[in-house]
Amino acid sequence: MVNSHKIISCLLALGFVSPGSAGYNRTSQTVTYTPLHEEWIDEESNSNVTLSAKFDLINSAYASLYDKEETTDLSKRTSITVIAEAATVIGGTATVIIAANSGVSIYKYIAGIMKSKSDDNSCTLTWGTDTGDGYVEGYAYEATTTGSNCETTAEKKTMVKAVEKCANYLHDSGATRGCCKMNHGGGTWRGHLRLSAEPTKYPAHSVTC
Ligand SMILES: *[C@@H]1O[C@H](CO)[C@@H](O)[C@H](O)[C@H]1NC(C)=O
Ligand SMILES: *[C@@H]1O[C@H](CO)[C@@H](O)[C@H](O)[C@H]1NC(C)=O
Repeated sequence: MVNSHKIISCLLALGFVSPGSAGYNRTSQTVTYTPLHEEWIDEESNSNVTLSAKFDLINSAYASLYDKEETTDLSKRTSITVIAEAATVIGGTATVIIAANSGVSIYKYIAGIMKSKSDDNSCTLTWGTDTGDGYVEGYAYEATTTGSNCETTAEKKTMVKAVEKCANYLHDSGATRGCCKMNHGGGTWRGHLRLSAEPTKYPAHSVTC
């Protein structure tokens, strides 16, 4: 059972529900929301890490959280540029991306894949599923570059932190499937990670972030 009061207070506390950019259209069963953009200084390397995240499927138990009040209609807020994304609302039985603290082993495993792809300077797409204490999660990972190689100087620890932030955002948003893009040190490397909590029904076989 999803405790919606708990979810609401959690989302409000973390600033995920931003009136004006969020909305729930019951006719089309879609929500609109502002994607995550976060930036922090990585202590290991003293460099800039950026993370952006969005999702395309959301559990219906969370959809009403995105309802906006009439008075915060986007057209009345012309001074603010909001880049909204849309996600499809799916049945309440669909599971949500597992939070970082509940899925430590899978997120460390995924960060390990990212690190080894970087060590191999590999730009190839990898996907699979991993299971842990009663959950299963699908993932797809690919590094891209605007330069000539797919290496990054980011340490595995740094990647674990980024993957965990990604998972927590998707979890708190009620997402069943989502995608995160990372950068380290302002370089040409971009890590793209797609996660799915329902890999059989809603696979993660490509990255879309
Ligand atoms: C909700 O979705 C329906 C169907 O796609 C669309 O016709 C309608 O304009 C949408 N409503 C809003 C307020 O965007
Ligand atoms: C981090 O990166 C952003 C965007 O590339 C840049 O605007 C900012 O100045 C950088 N900050 C540091 C501390 O390097």
